Amino acid sequence: MAINGKTERLEGDNQDFTVFANSVASFQRPRGTSLEDRASGFYNWQDTRRESGLWFYSRSLSRKPGPITDIRSDNGLPFSGINFASQDYLGLAGHSKVIEAASEALERFGPHSAGSPTLLGNTTLSLQLEHEIGDALHMPEVVLFPTGWGAGFGAIAGLVRPYDHIVIDRLAHACLHQGTAAATKNVHRTEHLCVESIEEHLRRIRSEDDRNMILVVTEGLFSMDADMPDIAVMQEICRRYQAVLLVDIAHDFGAMGPGGTGALGLQNMLGKVDLVMGSFSKTFASNGGFVAVKSPAIKQYLKFYGGPHIFSNALSPVQCAVVSSALEIVRSSEGDARREQLIRVAQGLRKALAGRSISCLGMPSPITPVVIGEERVAAVTAKIIAERGVLTNLVEYPAVPLGQARLRMQAMATHTLEQACQAATIIGDAVRFAASIVGSDRNGVSTHYSISEMLVDPA
Ligand SMILES: Cc1ncc(COP(=O)(O)O)c(C=O)c1O
Repeated sequence: MAINGKTERLEGDNQDFTVFANSVASFQRPRGTSLEDRASGFYNWQDTRRESGLWFYSRSLSRKPGPITDIRSDNGLPFSGINFASQDYLGLAGHSKVIEAASEALERFGPHSAGSPTLLGNTTLSLQLEHEIGDALHMPEVVLFPTGWGAGFGAIAGLVRPYDHIVIDRLAHACLHQGTAAATKNVHRTEHLCVESIEEHLRRIRSEDDRNMILVVTEGLFSMDADMPDIAVMQEICRRYQAVLLVDIAHDFGAMGPGGTGALGLQNMLGKVDLVMGSFSKTFASNGGFVAVKSPAIKQYLKFYGGPHIFSNALSPVQCAVVSSALEIVRSSEGDARREQLIRVAQGLRKALAGRSISCLGMPSPITPVVIGEERVAAVTAKIIAERGVLTNLVEYPAVPLGQARLRMQAMATHTLEQACQAATIIGDAVRFAASIVGSDRNGVSTHYSISEMLVDPA
């Protein structure tokens, strides 16, 4: 059975599915003196997948990241279609006010911040942005970082010392795990969202060590599972054991909650969490990140010890102007309308997928993780849907556990319900077809739970 001319190839014997016996994790620890040899095992494996049309990473946009767009694979093949692969949750990257703000900043300040924020990298725009973020989150002090990754890494590596402890959700983002690995060996990983497990760790650590800090790390909306922790309970447990809570609100801030206040606003926790960090790259149409804290002392300490803040150039004036302008829209009635449409699309997508017996993880939110399971079925599905005009990201081991490969669909307020339904129909057909032609041999052995852990574990 051929879906169209291009996918007929899937039925032939030239598709190399043996590549699924390996994964990115297989090449994590190459040995030997030659750097070229150490890299080539990974390269050859990657290339076999690429030649089989089953490599979906490092793709590029040929125009704006709108609901319909054009992209190219990393070997230059063109694809067009409904775009659920971009992170622009409220569709602000193409908003006329945001583009106007960028042009004005460019005209007035030029393109470059020309220094670290610790030296002369700040501008009136970056100072204003600090104030605006603090106001939105009810947190008096804010430190800006060049990326969300830098904010997560810098918050942890900047504030935690080798004698301190970190209790962290297993599925937290790589920047949080890598910051943790850089800060201390006293790392305690908890099962995903499990407050009992957190409390158990805190009780044990405090019974042995009442002199050092414990940092507890979680996210507002988890990026691969679209679920939320109970932040109020976590903060209360932290208080009881004199621990500090850090919540990463990269995916929910701006895109969810009253006035765009994300998981904190939804759980009535605005201004009540010890440390809050976020990214501008999901809703605020720019690179960049921040850490919001409660006291000027913590702010100043973080500015001087939070690596990527002091040792990278400041956000550019154009980036600051874009984020300020996006934040103004986020907090306006237009922001409310965009969030409503975003959730309508996300709910429509989940309903249409459920109608085709495809299950999704988590809650209606900008992220819809579409569970497929078997890696080779997921990869063939990703190939078919790209050819049929649905662009989305494949997530496979070790980014998620082995056998839990999924499509991560990211909705935008600029999508229509019709586009969501059309995409669900194409995905439903593709999953069935892929499962029927690929078989379901289990390949590989799961030695790591997630890419975040693989990046830091010496296994
Ligand atoms: C939860 C979380 N935190 C931090 C980041 C890093 O943000 P940025 O892309 O702005 O560096 C991401 C990005 O994927 C993320 O998902």
